[in-house]
Amino acid sequence: MTDFVVALAEGADLNGFRQGLRRGIAQGVAPEAIVWQVGAEASLFGQTDVSDAAPVRVPRAAAALIDLVVCHRDPERYALLYHLVWRMVRGERALLEVHTDPLVWRLERMAKAIRRDLHKMHAFVRFRRIDDEAGERFIAWFEPEHFILASTADFFVKRYPSMRWSILTPDGSLHWDKERLTFGPPGDPRDAPAVGDIEGAWDVYFQSTFNPARLNVAQMQKEMPRKYWRNMPETKLIPGMLQMASSRVDEMISATPQPAIKRDPQKALAKMLDTEIKSLEQLNAIISASEPFVRGGRRAVIGEGPSHPDIAFVGEQPGDQEDIQGRPFVGPAGQLFDAALEKSGIDRSRCYVTNAVKHFKFEQRGKRRIHQTPTTGEVKHYRWWLMKELELVRPKLVVALGVTAALALSGKPVTISRARGTCAFGSQAGLITVHPSYLLRLPDEDARAEALQLFVRDLINAKASV
Ligand code: URA
Repeated sequence: MTDFVVALAEGADLNGFRQGLRRGIAQGVAPEAIVWQVGAEASLFGQTDVSDAAPVRVPRAAAALIDLVVCHRDPERYALLYHLVWRMVRGERALLEVHTDPLVWRLERMAKAIRRDLHKMHAFVRFRRIDDEAGERFIAWFEPEHFILASTADFFVKRYPSMRWSILTPDGSLHWDKERLTFGPPGDPRDAPAVGDIEGAWDVYFQSTFNPARLNVAQMQKEMPRKYWRNMPETKLIPGMLQMASSRVDEMISATPQPAIKRDPQKALAKMLDTEIKSLEQLNAIISASEPFVRGGRRAVIGEGPSHPDIAFVGEQPGDQEDIQGRPFVGPAGQLFDAALEKSGIDRSRCYVTNAVKHFKFEQRGKRRIHQTPTTGEVKHYRWWLMKELELVRPKLVVALGVTAALALSGKPVTISRARGTCAFGSQAGLITVHPSYLLRLPDEDARAEALQLFVRDLINAKASV
């Protein structure tokens, strides 16, 4: 008998597999009688009946397993999956629950490998910036272990919706132009420039998220296997950091007052950090390495600007755009803030800008991440860091933008309408004003224009007082 041939495209051909599966099952073709022919034209093989057969009903868990396993590089993947479905439709409906079955065991291992590969790709893709005729574009070269490129598309579109980017791999490429996603042929690593602006930022971020006290080399290599290192610019820093780590930890331990830790771990830790942290870089490294204390935010957004400025501005917390871009006040509130600064003659680049809470607290609603106001407890949690930050930055004047910043700086609840204007935060000269997003929320245009005028007046006063 002629073999039953299913022609499939290279890579993860889920549709091709489904077609073959339907036809094979409809015609009662046994697993051993099927040839799964990858990368060949269907016509070359005198394909058996190509009419659309009815879909095969399988439990949801099996459908999910198929979606994953077709991405595996193992040439036997389609045959194994067909065998699974064949047995299921012939009475072994609950086959997937039999984890000791050799076929199930093997498929589960393959699915696990895909999940791991997806996770790695989500975490380790690094974009490099180029400028082409249409402006800024980000390109990444990545070598996944399996055929997972298409399966990661959703993740990257959601993660970077407002950037033009391409991800090139040896199996294919993915391109996003802020509106449309397209798949293209395999890429070439030489098309992803070796050095880009974004890498410097990654170095800083990576080095600052590196917490020597948490170092576990085996775990680190498990999480970030060496084979990914060459495409991750920041990993060139690892050897130096590893060397630094053990002596840093020794220093930290010997500087720890042990009995005090037993009495009050929070206070002892704060005390230890207080003497340990001597620079803003060190402080930022620890802030960046610490877990978010609020629900949401993926990364800490640290303050930016020169040390010892005339004015430091403190906002509430990073928003959606700040969380994405890793910089304070770059979203809609930031744009309004910039406009008000300009009107008041203040040069933002000469000011320090930071937030009371360092992570974006939000609630996911569908695709949107909705800002949540931090609680007093959360503000208190971050307060020590803010105070230390300002102690290191040493501005002449600290401006609290809104109620959360005023709470963090003064250590007690504040009503803006009553406290607005110059004040003192302990021994630090201060000024309290509204948060720019308050202006954005005003529904009435006249009210907004008037509120903006008052805000600008506060900023002018701030400038005049330094
Ligand atoms: N709102 C803030 O308080 N801070 C930011 O960085 C952005 C918006």
